[in-house]
Amino acid sequence: VSTPSPQPSEADVETARVRLAEIAAEIADCRKCPLHRTRTKTVPGQGFPRPEILFVGEGPGQDEDRQGLAFVGRAGALLTRMIVAMGLTRDEVFIANVVKCRATENYEMVKDRAPTLDEMRACLPYLRAQIAALRPRVIVTLGNAALEGLLGLKGITRLRGQWREYEGIPLMPTYHPSFLLRGGGDDTARYWEVWDDLCAVLRRIGREPPPRTRPR
Ligand code: URA
Ligand code: SF4
Repeated sequence: VSTPSPQPSEADVETARVRLAEIAAEIADCRKCPLHRTRTKTVPGQGFPRPEILFVGEGPGQDEDRQGLAFVGRAGALLTRMIVAMGLTRDEVFIANVVKCRATENYEMVKDRAPTLDEMRACLPYLRAQIAALRPRVIVTLGNAALEGLLGLKGITRLRGQWREYEGIPLMPTYHPSFLLRGGGDDTARYWEVWDDLCAVLRRIGREPPPRTRPR
């Protein structure tokens, strides 16, 4: 796999935009796994069609399911602050999930749960197709589900911060923002581990990481 050109042309961006819209339309009609029964909206993911960085989370929560957009709830707010701390904006990256429909414990739709391996397997062709269109220079997986769904690897606390590869694209596993929020938010040792991982990502795409700043 060749390294994608860092500067896609406007035509390249438009081609990817069209392809991503096609994939999103397929997802909207998808019934390949039981999650289709309880979803409000599908959440294909959104952002720049030819980004340098693709973030991959677990799956939609309640806010995402209502809006049809990835990472728009509390975890999304922290992810946004991290992206800004990197010197980037949400509009220049792409943000997606391993599953495109919300997974809950039961039909009361109250408590979210991680997607099962079967659900991730059923959904993975969409993310693969998105990655083929996006051609990111780096993939950042957030948390256990994305790491297991994409690479079949378990154990984010052991594996975070170590470069992997997905289809020839460098992949950096790091913690999920929800995990950081449960552990105290921005000002914890875990946050700075994530920050180190994100600095490694910036260096990989030839950007100088900004000084350690708390995301605000
Ligand atoms: N958590 C995720 O993993 N993905 C989202 O889109 C929102 C919260
Ligand atoms: Fe289809 Fe994925 Fe939704 Fe399951 S989670 S119904 S595979 S789009």
